[in-house]
Amino acid sequence: MKPVKVGLLGLGTVGTGVVRIVEAHQEDLQGQVGSPITIEKVLVQNKSKSRNISISSDKLTEDPWEVIRHPEIDVIVEVMGGIGQTKEYILEALSLGKHVVTANKDLMALHGPEILAKAKEHSCDVLYEASVAGGIPIIRTLVEGFSSDRITKIMGIVNGTTNYILTKMSQEGAAYADVLKEAQALGYAEADPTSDVEGLDAARKMTILATLGFHTNVNLEDVSAEGISSVSKDDILYAKRLGYELKLLGIAERQDDLISISVQPTMVKHSHPIASVNGVFNAVYVYGEAVGETMFYGAGAGELPTATSIVADLVAVVKNLKLGVNGKHSGIAFKETRLKTDEQ
Ligand code: NDP
Ligand code: HSE
Repeated sequence: MKPVKVGLLGLGTVGTGVVRIVEAHQEDLQGQVGSPITIEKVLVQNKSKSRNISISSDKLTEDPWEVIRHPEIDVIVEVMGGIGQTKEYILEALSLGKHVVTANKDLMALHGPEILAKAKEHSCDVLYEASVAGGIPIIRTLVEGFSSDRITKIMGIVNGTTNYILTKMSQEGAAYADVLKEAQALGYAEADPTSDVEGLDAARKMTILATLGFHTNVNLEDVSAEGISSVSKDDILYAKRLGYELKLLGIAERQDDLISISVQPTMVKHSHPIASVNGVFNAVYVYGEAVGETMFYGAGAGELPTATSIVADLVAVVKNLKLGVNGKHSGIAFKETRLKTDEQ
């Protein structure tokens, strides 16, 4: 059986998890897709950096084109982060007919339409389940599970770092700066954690969810975002005394032709299940006209939960490769229609 060869861009928190899961679950994965999946080449910034995973040094490279233009590589998994250069790599991979799996919400929220158009042009798949809510399969659920319904609202905690910080401040009285450092050490935070704590990471995720859930093209600049950097221990304490927990909530709502999307610290009544979503966990509520209220819960960041979503996408891509139905998942597309904001 000819192996399916994967090129990995990035071997940090998420990339390491991908290598671990592909190795540990190889037999199961092979059973599902009918051939071995091998990580052929891995792009890193610094080959001599010490790593907490053993990987043969001849697989590592600092030259992106050695991975992207490798003639035997079928699928590129992008877990390096960033926007400008990374977009260039992904577009080149697609133009060479390689399928792409990415965890990059920054890129998908800003350049999703362009990337998916390129994928369509070359009959390639681009899957990005890990870009929202880590280990919760919310993108597949929105696109496939709710295809029969009309979604009216998507609401939830979609950033693990800030929920980790708010939980530790609330439950242990910990200091904001100390917990942020902990979240960074645990691999939850972005390379620049400003995007976590200022609400931008959550805004990017809500952009992706609203685009898919409401079948429209949401522009990130239409999403209002406020983070938690100015939330004090006193704010949390007073909220608690009044019977509330402070949570960073993303809310996307549709009413008739209007859509509003916001991210902000919100007082949530203790009796509401979202008040009990603690630590790195995320929870996403989806409301449909027919189905009513649904809730999805799980680890929103971290090595193995995030890698679970990446490898699930990899399996989907490989199954499509085998069936010759590539490009099917570009149906998880950003449409060309414009968002009507509440200002219009
Ligand atoms: P890390 O910072 O831990 O890892 C990034 C990896 O990419 C490193 O191996 C680094 O190389 C490599 N890299 C970065 N820039 C370059 C470059 N210009 N050229 C070559 N290699 C480069 O990031 P994460 O694993 O935490 O995150 C990766 C992506 O996944 C991001 O888009 C993030 O938003 C997303 N994500 C992260 C989650 C998490 O829990 N951490 C959850 C969901 C999504 P080197 O090792 O040599 O430094
Ligand atoms: N920094 C992000 C978070 C990673 O904390 O939620 C997962 O997307």
